[in-house]
Amino acid sequence: MKIIKTIAELRSHLAVFKRPAFVPTMGNLHAGHLALVRQAKPLGDVLAVSIFVNRLQFLPHEDFDTYPRTWEADCQALEAAGCDVVFAPSEQELYPEPQGFKIHPPTELADLLEGHFRPGFFVGVCTVVMKLFACVQPGVAVFGQKDYQQLMVIRRMVQQFALPIDVQGAPTLRAADGLALSSRNNYLSPADRGEAVHLSKSLQAMAQALRDGASDITALEQQAQHDLTERGWQPDYLTVRRRHDLQSPANSDLANLVQNNGLVVLGAARIGNTRLIDNLEV
Ligand code: PAF
Repeated sequence: MKIIKTIAELRSHLAVFKRPAFVPTMGNLHAGHLALVRQAKPLGDVLAVSIFVNRLQFLPHEDFDTYPRTWEADCQALEAAGCDVVFAPSEQELYPEPQGFKIHPPTELADLLEGHFRPGFFVGVCTVVMKLFACVQPGVAVFGQKDYQQLMVIRRMVQQFALPIDVQGAPTLRAADGLALSSRNNYLSPADRGEAVHLSKSLQAMAQALRDGASDITALEQQAQHDLTERGWQPDYLTVRRRHDLQSPANSDLANLVQNNGLVVLGAARIGNTRLIDNLEV
């Protein structure tokens, strides 16, 4: 496995390949990332993984400085998972001057849910992903479905800019109790780790209620938020959305959407100081 820190070296190393497969990450890798790597491996003729903690996608009060950097362990895990190239640029390499040009995703897709609670997040994500795409020039890129809205925003960006990249989603990996794997799970105290599964449990309950014929979305969402709040969480949202555009469905469309697998329930909530997100397609 080759470790590359500059764009120039990356370009010259990848020049001989026709279809690089690419998995962008911010490091602190867990089994969920490694599943993305294994999914991507057979899709290209070389597999590149980037490790770059992207300052642009963190709000000033968020965890950029404390985001865990676990370089040695990440490299060992990537090598074992079959990664060929780790691209780990410094900030100076990727952003040698303030990044004045940025990708602003459309508001109807990016200013809701995560974009509402983390303003500017998707501008930071799209900008770095576009730049990483320009560096790696992948034929295929794999993103986790745990970041459901991110995957959707990236797909739309690739489509609207006509980038020749096949974007694939990878299913969310879960711990034995059902908690979606996330780098931020490392922040959880033992007590909060025990509690953390209740985010996915709430989403499961919402999904089940929809399958059982629930017909009032507002009531369903309020009940789920209330239940988590009672348990000591601070929910940002627990919500039912249409899969294809992440907008709220009309109550009158629910039955039809459930029948046609057209819904997703998404949640973001804070337990202790840790903000977790999760989703389930219905
Ligand atoms: O999902 C992530 O880890 C990040 O948002 C990404 C796609 C690597 C961009 O920094």
